[in-house]
Amino acid sequence: MKLADPTLLKSHCFINGQWHDCDNKTPVYNPANGELITRVASVDSTIVEEAISDAKTAFDDWRHCAPQVRSDHLMAWFEQIAIHRHDLATIITLEQGKPLSEALAEIDYAASYIRWFAQQAVRIEGELLTGMQNSQQLMVSRDPVGVCAAIAPWNFPAAMITRKVAPALAAGCTMVVKPAQQTPLTALALAELASRAGLPKGVLQVVCGDPALIGEELTRNPTIRKLSFTGSTRIGSLLMQQCAKDIKKLSLELGGNAPFIVFEDTDLTFAAGELIKAKFRNAGQTCISPNRVYVQDAVYSAFALEVVRQVKQLKVGDGFNPDTTVGPLIDDNAATKVRSHIQQALDAGARMLCGETLPASGRWVAPTVLTDVPQDALCCCEETFGPLVPLIRFDSEQQVTELANGSEFGLAAYLFSNNIHRVRRVVDALETGMVGVNTGVISAANAPFGGVKASGIGREGAHVGIEEYLEMKYQCYGNLPA
Ligand code: SIN
Repeated sequence: MKLADPTLLKSHCFINGQWHDCDNKTPVYNPANGELITRVASVDSTIVEEAISDAKTAFDDWRHCAPQVRSDHLMAWFEQIAIHRHDLATIITLEQGKPLSEALAEIDYAASYIRWFAQQAVRIEGELLTGMQNSQQLMVSRDPVGVCAAIAPWNFPAAMITRKVAPALAAGCTMVVKPAQQTPLTALALAELASRAGLPKGVLQVVCGDPALIGEELTRNPTIRKLSFTGSTRIGSLLMQQCAKDIKKLSLELGGNAPFIVFEDTDLTFAAGELIKAKFRNAGQTCISPNRVYVQDAVYSAFALEVVRQVKQLKVGDGFNPDTTVGPLIDDNAATKVRSHIQQALDAGARMLCGETLPASGRWVAPTVLTDVPQDALCCCEETFGPLVPLIRFDSEQQVTELANGSEFGLAAYLFSNNIHRVRRVVDALETGMVGVNTGVISAANAPFGGVKASGIGREGAHVGIEEYLEMKYQCYGNLPA
């Protein structure tokens, strides 16, 4: 696939404003055809240490830059991304597989975090508090946390990076980013554009390579004061343990198991359409993807028919084909997991309404709808991260709330109903960080993204997103005796 600007395709790491090659390389493959795209330099721990030390040097200046200057740098980066939007999307489709139309939407979404936090950089405010003793004045200011680290996933190779980098930089922090091994090329292209936008050296570093080795150094090194991670709960918990030694701040956006609840008093065609949007975005490889679909008895069969009708219109294929609506899964392991969830549910008594006829192989999994799925099936308990819709019947509001909350995860939930009183009761009872009411599209730069329970800690985006990169400093002013 040709880029208008081929120099955006980088294979070296970005350290202290320079492109850095390494002896070790990691191959990057196109998930649609398994072809090698390129080999990317893989750092060792000494290079990670150097990147952290350069980020520290840069921090000492960056934190003292006027907030408007930081904001202007971010806006210049945003503009570079807008100019190269198509090339960036092409790189995403190449290394991640999602349809080009979705990759373009991801670039716009990624850029919106940069614009939002450029605007927030000049809105970091403090407080003046009433003193409890007449002679005292109390003030709260906010300082940048320091040098931060970000470990990003492969499912949104651009947006999950800008959602971390933009608030960090806006707050006055510098950052060392480790992109996923499957999708480093988007991160490196973003770094190139940041450099063209004039971002001072050392403010943003991108180190690629072995996740365990880099994760170990980022969490071991005392110069790193905060880690932001998006990925599995298992790795999040491990990183949390590693960060415990010197009490680093943490933001963790971890696994989900989103319930999608359809009450009998809703428009079924509309609800099915929103389900398709939410479920098949990125072939289901999204933390907020509906994982379990609960449908009230009275409309169960009609809703199932409508979902199947709409699912049959989806087109699986190479992301560069303009007709494609569902791309390949990231790798064979991801597809094997989805197939094992389908098979296990069928063995437990579910029936297939449409989709993958097993056995199949490779990274392609057909959009699949299962009916009469038992609540204890694997696909209701674990995140499937693929194009599977399991339908489960429920009768009462109380029953579905208990089913929805019966998970260790608490990232997102969706519900569809025309009854405002019911909506308010159910939203109130749901144990999740985010709820979509009569919509399947909830992500936005100005909204707080994050979960509760095993889905993580902290929020990304919104005005609170920048707080994660700031420390409060309480100052108490007394009076010297006259
Ligand atoms: C995710 O899958 O973690 C991100 C999805 C989004 O931001 O919409």
